[in-house]
Amino acid sequence: MIKVAVLPGDGIGPEIVDGAMVVINKVAEVFGIDFSFHYGQFGGVAYDASGSPFPEETRKLVLDSDAVFLGSVGGPQWDNLDRTLRPESGLLALRKSLGLYCNLRPVKYYNLLESKVIWKPGYLDGVDIVIFRELTGGAYFGEKGRTDDGAYDTISYTREEIYRLVERGFELAQKRKKVLHSIDKANVLETSRLWREVVAEVNQKYPDVKVEHLYVDNAALQLVINPKQFDVIVTENMFGDILSDQAASIAGSLGMLPSASLGGKVNLYEPSHGSAPDIAGEDKANPIATILSIALMLRFTCSNEHAAQAVEKAVDKVLAAGYATGDIAGPESKIVGTKEMAELIANSIN
Ligand code: IPM
Ligand code: MN
Repeated sequence: MIKVAVLPGDGIGPEIVDGAMVVINKVAEVFGIDFSFHYGQFGGVAYDASGSPFPEETRKLVLDSDAVFLGSVGGPQWDNLDRTLRPESGLLALRKSLGLYCNLRPVKYYNLLESKVIWKPGYLDGVDIVIFRELTGGAYFGEKGRTDDGAYDTISYTREEIYRLVERGFELAQKRKKVLHSIDKANVLETSRLWREVVAEVNQKYPDVKVEHLYVDNAALQLVINPKQFDVIVTENMFGDILSDQAASIAGSLGMLPSASLGGKVNLYEPSHGSAPDIAGEDKANPIATILSIALMLRFTCSNEHAAQAVEKAVDKVLAAGYATGDIAGPESKIVGTKEMAELIANSIN
């Protein structure tokens, strides 16, 4: 029995989670996987109900689960809260308390979404990148504060924090194209200089993997002008946050980008996008990033590669049949809502 903590969160979170649940229930049936689902409050809705974005009850629930499945958090009504009470702080605390240092964000180009990308036809053919974003260190967790007339955030990394993330990148690079891009700002930041040292050290363990070091500013440019050169990327927390949103343009929409946060006893699966409050409750959100995050859960928590691929193939099939939510719709698409998209994908699993 796989116990999953389900945290729908804010904005479009509940809709995309409902959609993904239709898919996961179908997977459970077809592949005979025994799940039990336990819903918890998290994010802005949890703050409204209990005064904390990550209440004690939810903490207990996630620590007592085999996986966490999260929708999205945040919204304008919580923007003016003290930083520590914001839904986003709850998310950082959740990742930290589970020890999820390794955030995996696969970015794949779908030829079918050719009309949605800003590149010339054919330019992205075959682009398939995996970003490893360090998730529990760097500026998001360093000491921060205010002075009389200023403010500061601190970036700090230990060797160990870098090592364990980078090693995961090498492991995957060795199984794929044996090329690893490490992205930093070593011409300016001391933490980035350490990052490079550690990458060189881990490289000795994986000598057949070729490492390319790129400064983050150049990496942002290269992702646009020559994305085909990338296969596996390792980078620190903030750079990974920014570059993964940028890379979403390759997938046609942020609504296509799943993520897995790994490294803890309990791993977490969530779409890479936010809570899109502007379309919340309208059955317009794209559930595919969330559904593909379920595929990652099947792969990493359930170790069921067949089931993971069945979900990924079902997504391909539904897109190939011309169905699309508004964000990925082209001139010929059959536009469907969140619920219908999820049902179409569930029905394509066999
Ligand atoms: C993400 C999000 C979060 C992050 C926010 C909501 C705290 O942007 O998962 O990429 O910065 O990690
Ligand atoms: Mn982000």
